[in-house]
Amino acid sequence: MRVLITGSSGQIGTNLALRLLREGHEVFGVDKRQNTWTDAFPTLLQDLAGHYAPFPGGINGVEYPETDLVVHLAAHAKVHQLVGEPHRALENAVMTFNVLEYARHGSIPFVFSSSREVYGDVHRFEGYDETAADFAYTESTYSASKIAGEAFVYSYARCYGLRYLVFRFSNVYGRYDNDLRRMVRVIPLFIHSLARGEPITIYGGRDKTLDFTYVDDCVEGITRGVEALAAGKVVNETINLAYGEGNTLVHCAERIAHELGVEADMTLAPSLLGEVTHYVADLSKARSLLGYDPQVPLDEGIARAVEWFRDHRARHPEENVPVRADHERAQELGQGWKTPAAL
Ligand SMILES: NC(=O)c1ccc[n+]([C@@H]2O[C@H](COP(=O)([O-])OP(=O)(O)OC[C@H]3O[C@@H](n4cnc5c(N)ncnc54)[C@H](O)[C@@H]3O)[C@@H](O)[C@H]2O)c1
Repeated sequence: MRVLITGSSGQIGTNLALRLLREGHEVFGVDKRQNTWTDAFPTLLQDLAGHYAPFPGGINGVEYPETDLVVHLAAHAKVHQLVGEPHRALENAVMTFNVLEYARHGSIPFVFSSSREVYGDVHRFEGYDETAADFAYTESTYSASKIAGEAFVYSYARCYGLRYLVFRFSNVYGRYDNDLRRMVRVIPLFIHSLARGEPITIYGGRDKTLDFTYVDDCVEGITRGVEALAAGKVVNETINLAYGEGNTLVHCAERIAHELGVEADMTLAPSLLGEVTHYVADLSKARSLLGYDPQVPLDEGIARAVEWFRDHRARHPEENVPVRADHERAQELGQGWKTPAAL
């Protein structure tokens, strides 16, 4: 298959592209940044967030190569950033629109990367099967951008016969996520800080529980989806992809410290605005439709992530510099903390 991946220079895009190449598929990437991890596939450098005139063969007058399926990953992918800079949430919706238009004109099947953030931080749910999303409850501007993206996908299916899969990911970590100057995610940040002997802050407190997904499991699920959608076996479904187990952020930090052989100096703090503090995915649909069976529990994934980090850091000692913590960034962005009233 010839697979077009948007956001192909990012964490999931890079891992997915390399995996699809190993499976014998062709990959064509589109991203506004050069890929800093690999040159194994071509990348068109293009900003997908512009308001462009209609162009059937690609986006903004650029002819794309023949494509059998699109995986749309490009987005501003960080909750805190989008709470502080909401226009980026709108850009996410515009990117999705542009890529959907390309898929519509070419009748190309479309895979969308949504997020567990569409469920919000609502504890009234017993579980998180895919029908539990309540689009009237919107936790953050990032959630809004994913809800908008999903809504566009569903409307394109209804109006134009688009064939799609929507995946809702959750805290994907591992290989190629150590891009700390561009985007700070919690696991690479904790590895970086603890390795440097710096203290860490756990926003959301001792009970904050999330479903951490090792990137190879996530990519395995997407790959199964890509092949099933292309074959017409699984079409127009919304599917959670995660590990399916809750772990506290405190446990996660302790495992990182253990792998690094250091003591974790942790401070507990309230959640930042827009954050989800509890989520464990219901994977029944992924298992039954795609035969998805995640293989890497958190403790094993952390060991692999720390090993990858060590190897990467040894080759890039210049990256061993302080990274601004989230509360500093949040203050800069004018964000507040989540108060009980906001829950
Ligand atoms: N990693 C996770 O834990 C997670 C969880 C839920 C959902 N997601 C979603 O999965 C997708 C991929 O996530 P990721 O972790 O690989 O993120 P990432 O930030 O590493 O990759 C996203 C890529 O999109 C590109 N991009 C952003 N704006 C663009 C624009 N205007 N034009 C072209 N390219 C642009 C970025 O340059 C980046 O390379 C995103 O849509 C994200 O919201 C990720």
